[in-house]
Amino acid sequence: MKTAKTLVIVTHPDIDKSVVNKRWVEELQKHRDLITIHQLHEQYPDHTIDVAAEQQLLLDHDNIVFQFPFYWFSTPPLLKKWQDEVLLHGFAYGRGTAERKLAGKRIGLAISAGIKAVDYDKDGRYAATVEELVRPLRLTIEYISAEPLPVFTFYGIEDGHSTEEIDLSAAQYLQYIKQIAGGPRSPASLDIGSCAMA
Ligand SMILES: Cc1cc2nc3c(=O)[nH]c(=O)nc-3n(C[C@H](O)[C@H](O)[C@H](O)COP(=O)(O)O)c2cc1C
Repeated sequence: MKTAKTLVIVTHPDIDKSVVNKRWVEELQKHRDLITIHQLHEQYPDHTIDVAAEQQLLLDHDNIVFQFPFYWFSTPPLLKKWQDEVLLHGFAYGRGTAERKLAGKRIGLAISAGIKAVDYDKDGRYAATVEELVRPLRLTIEYISAEPLPVFTFYGIEDGHSTEEIDLSAAQYLQYIKQIAGGPRSPASLDIGSCAMA
């Protein structure tokens, strides 16, 4: 059934050992009136995805966020499998409007990165920003005629963060989600796009 809530699809291969994503999920769980939390690894421990159920979840929500830890400058594998299996021809893309059932949905990304923000700088160690690295996801969102939103990124986890910093990131992430849900349709107007504390 259609809802005004934001759907957050969480993909973390080992959420029990997670620090950041686990804390973010805990924060989101306090706002179940605003947010539908959907954890792929919890739902599909053997990675067998219920495609029809996933498609229905997407249809029911207009605002969607993919939350995941950055793995090899990309998504964890179950999220890639999810894309391959759920975003089917005739559902997510195709010639006719009826085949592009996700058209107009607003889709954001919330990423935790082990590497420091400065290393992702244009002049940094990797000379590639997270926004550049997630370009395939952005193109996928555009391909299905949805609207890509700014990326929320929390950097530098490998160098360690205090509990206060992680709590702050959770609060800022919640703000990001609230802006998506209530804000104007222009992505540029979302002023929380990253959370660089390192
Ligand atoms: C297999 C693997 C690959 C990773 N690749 C990257 C990477 O490419 N870039 C990066 O910034 N961090 C990378 N990391 C670090 C994770 O992004 C980081 O540990 C995670 O975001 C921490 O969040 P968590 O506390 O929720 O687990 C990688 C970690 C693992 C286990």
